[in-house]
Amino acid sequence: MNQKKFYIKTFGCQMNEYDSNKISDLMNSIAYQKIDKIDEADCFIFNTCHIREKATQKVYSDIGKIKKIYKNKKKPIFVLAGCVAQAESSMVFEKSDYVDIVVGPQAYHKLPSLIKSFQSNRQRSVETELDVDGKFDVLKNLKNTKSKISSFVTIQEGCDKFCKFCVVPYTRGPEFSRDHNKILDEILLLTDNGTKEIVLLGQNVSAYKNNDISLAKLIKKIAKINNVKRIRFTTSHPNDFDQELISLFGEEPKLMPQLHLPVQSGSDKILKLMNRNHTRSDYLNLIEKFRKEKSDIQFSSDFIVGFPGETNEDHLDTINLVKEVKFSLSYSFIYSQRPGTPATNLSEVDNNISQKRLEELQGLLFKQQIEFNHSMINHENSVLFENKTQNEEQFFGRNQYMTPVFIKNTVIKAGEIKKIFIENANRNNLFGRIA
Ligand code: SAH
Ligand code: SF4
Ligand code: F3S
Repeated sequence: MNQKKFYIKTFGCQMNEYDSNKISDLMNSIAYQKIDKIDEADCFIFNTCHIREKATQKVYSDIGKIKKIYKNKKKPIFVLAGCVAQAESSMVFEKSDYVDIVVGPQAYHKLPSLIKSFQSNRQRSVETELDVDGKFDVLKNLKNTKSKISSFVTIQEGCDKFCKFCVVPYTRGPEFSRDHNKILDEILLLTDNGTKEIVLLGQNVSAYKNNDISLAKLIKKIAKINNVKRIRFTTSHPNDFDQELISLFGEEPKLMPQLHLPVQSGSDKILKLMNRNHTRSDYLNLIEKFRKEKSDIQFSSDFIVGFPGETNEDHLDTINLVKEVKFSLSYSFIYSQRPGTPATNLSEVDNNISQKRLEELQGLLFKQQIEFNHSMINHENSVLFENKTQNEEQFFGRNQYMTPVFIKNTVIKAGEIKKIFIENANRNNLFGRIA
């Protein structure tokens, strides 16, 4: 039998990356082979993101590109998976006549049967059931084909926080924590195949709770696995940290001293309007608590500028919070109105004003990022090496703070942790030699 070929494109967050790997394993199970050549597929899968308007627009413009490429060829089966699928459901068909199957992020385990029935009846279909339990039940039987030195493991999905701007509670559904034993099984499989670093994923990963196993307790169990050398987790909400988890940063050497802790805004008024349920000082106090446990811990964050109601004073509150905390890395966006979220009814900040505020904020954040990277020069960093660069001339790894580090050396092996003397830095990367 001629093996069929599929191409998968991933948009959005790390959880989508994790899902795309699982979708690939599912496709292998029905004799589809993954390819990297965009013009030779029998099946296209777009694993999509709905977080901002631009993210969704990109999905549709990329569908247009595929349509063009295949104009004079046999049309591939087109699967639209992920958060756009969940949010737009059958509306997807109205927006694009090219899509055949729409499947949500908690239903993609049904993809093999959806594809099979499309092959036999050529009927378009939509599957958006929120069946997280069923999904992980099917996924656990798959042979995992992709183990990287640093591997993602989804432990928690969905969100009950309902920040007023955010689509995630609607696209991923309510909070769900996976069985901790199944997580440990998955990690053992990964480490058997060479994984050294585990990055635990969840939309609200610090809210993980499986019976009496909290995130702190889960990390303690993972740290006991000999071949796990490093542990990280993302993304956390500032309200879900207990003292046990905070203390773990000081106690558990495998837990890396870097935390993504989105704050969104430094203004109490805006935090309230966003329904973040914490104040500016709650956030700053939390940062202090972490620093008490682990003095060199670094923070990254997400910011939204121009949320409805944001005045210049609110913006300055954000600027001042950034100056106070000093972030090693950050992501910032202009507020984007999303259909179905409560903030859509509020009157928007003028886009020129938002643009100016974003530039000011990013100027400061980038400056902090460069300063942080420069502070590593002439110091030793502990680097877990992952792979050679494409031209084979350098080796790529990450230091304890997750910053990419490049060295010119060919004797290093993927998976090794080495002390690296940092010689140079730019905004995104560090460069060094074996110490
Ligand atoms: N669970 C995480 C974030 C998930 S979304 C948390 O609680 O922070 C990732 C980031 O996208 C958010 O932190 C936010 O900064 C940004 N984002 C979400 N909705 C947005 C919107 N409507 N407009 C602009 N940015 C948005
Ligand atoms: Fe979205 Fe807020 Fe939930 Fe994060 S905590 S996923 S920003 S609703
Ligand atoms: Fe995007 Fe969905 Fe992730 S909306 S950010 S892909 S959870």
